[in-house]
Amino acid sequence: MKNIKFYKMGEMPLEQHKVRVVQKLHLVPIAERLNAIEEAGFNTFKLTTRHVFLDMLTDSGTNAMSDQQVAAMFQADDAYAGSESFARLHQAVEDVLGKKYFLPAHQGRAAENIICKAFVKKGSIIPTNYHFTTTLAHILDNGGKVEELLCEGALDIKSDNPFKGNMDVEKLEACIQKHGAENIPFVRMEASTNLIGGQPFSISNLMDVRHVCDKYNIMLVLDASLLGENAYLVKQREDHWHENTLGDILKMMTNLADLVYFSARKLSSSRGGGICTNQKSLYSRMEALIPLYEGFLTYGGISVREIEAMAVGLRETLDETMISQSPSFIKYMVETLDKAGIPVVTPPGVLGCHVDAGQICSHLSQSEYPAGAFAAALYLISGVRGMERGTLSSIRDENGVEVLADAELVRLAIPRRVFTLSQINYVIDRVMWLYDHREYIGGLKFVYEPPVLRFFMGGLEATSDWPERLMAKFRKDFGDSL
Ligand code: F0G
Repeated sequence: MKNIKFYKMGEMPLEQHKVRVVQKLHLVPIAERLNAIEEAGFNTFKLTTRHVFLDMLTDSGTNAMSDQQVAAMFQADDAYAGSESFARLHQAVEDVLGKKYFLPAHQGRAAENIICKAFVKKGSIIPTNYHFTTTLAHILDNGGKVEELLCEGALDIKSDNPFKGNMDVEKLEACIQKHGAENIPFVRMEASTNLIGGQPFSISNLMDVRHVCDKYNIMLVLDASLLGENAYLVKQREDHWHENTLGDILKMMTNLADLVYFSARKLSSSRGGGICTNQKSLYSRMEALIPLYEGFLTYGGISVREIEAMAVGLRETLDETMISQSPSFIKYMVETLDKAGIPVVTPPGVLGCHVDAGQICSHLSQSEYPAGAFAAALYLISGVRGMERGTLSSIRDENGVEVLADAELVRLAIPRRVFTLSQINYVIDRVMWLYDHREYIGGLKFVYEPPVLRFFMGGLEATSDWPERLMAKFRKDFGDSL
């Protein structure tokens, strides 16, 4: 976002776009919200948008598209094989990410499936700065394990470390020596580490990781789903990069990786995903899997209209006024809540504002899912839908014992160019009220627990009548206000 100073109004983000198509929202009464969250099994994934006011579940597939993207969708070339739309996307991948070979996949986790099927086998170890839920699931599904090698202090909620997504390279060397390079098919770096609060890594760290990979001849894989924002924060925060363009920074990062994959639901504000590389041999190992799992090599399960939007969206990732919009709103929200003494992940990262429900609900144990309970409570008192990123999103080990998460976060995602500042102020206000009444929030327990990725479709119930009591308190304080 451009640095625009206000005369008397302090520091505030200023939108560099205008709204031309709108969608009506519905803020339903709190009694309806209580029914809705009960019916959803206290799982915000299972709410229908009819009952949601501000949808802050995710930025995945919910970023606003530009007029240029929508226009491009009309020129889509519907062909099973050899579509012109694919040729345009391929060119955009080469221009923006600097990789010649490109395999399309219907979304990010589909790319992970292909990569893991091609490279991970029983006993494989995947060192990573931090796991993402779907990545971990695919690695485990192919018999591998992950080792998380975050830098020191990365999990501190309050911090001024600008690059909490950095990998500890000493731990990486130790991990390779312990397991043997032959058991490590690749090292995975995730841009803007999603699960620890959208925290970026620095280019100097990525260079150090590359150096270790070269020393042991191990492939480096970059999850680029949030690469644009990582590049933006590098430009803001890392010495030597302030004067470079986002294009230079993006290319620098992708050049350091052998294989780059992404969810286009995030990276280019559309749908789809893909894998790219400059090494023919890597491409060849995955090529045959695309028609098997995704579709022909020139559409990969993505509609041609979305392919056109993806191509334009990728190029727009280089536009600083676009890519900075969400991080600027996040900074505003994080700093306002932090000043009010509410525990949120700092420094502000990307993707969303991450509230530390573990600290807020310190009266609950992790097995009562404090982050899930906070997300449900926030929905109840505001109609705002966030996402649990704590123990509920975790897994059980081979003995069925729950793996407690490193942090109990609730993510309030701020997709690109979707919300206005007054909507963000409403969320801040309701989080403040909930924080002041946190003792009303009680625990949750599973009534239906799926064996894989349980947080998506799991059903829970409140361990007491706390939702009713919270609703009564809300009504007392807000009268007939929604
Ligand atoms: N990698 C990262 C870092 C992600 O954030 C995601 C998705 C994926 C891979 C998988 O991509 O959804 O297209 O299959 N993140 C979404 C989120 C789901 O809400 O943060 P996908």
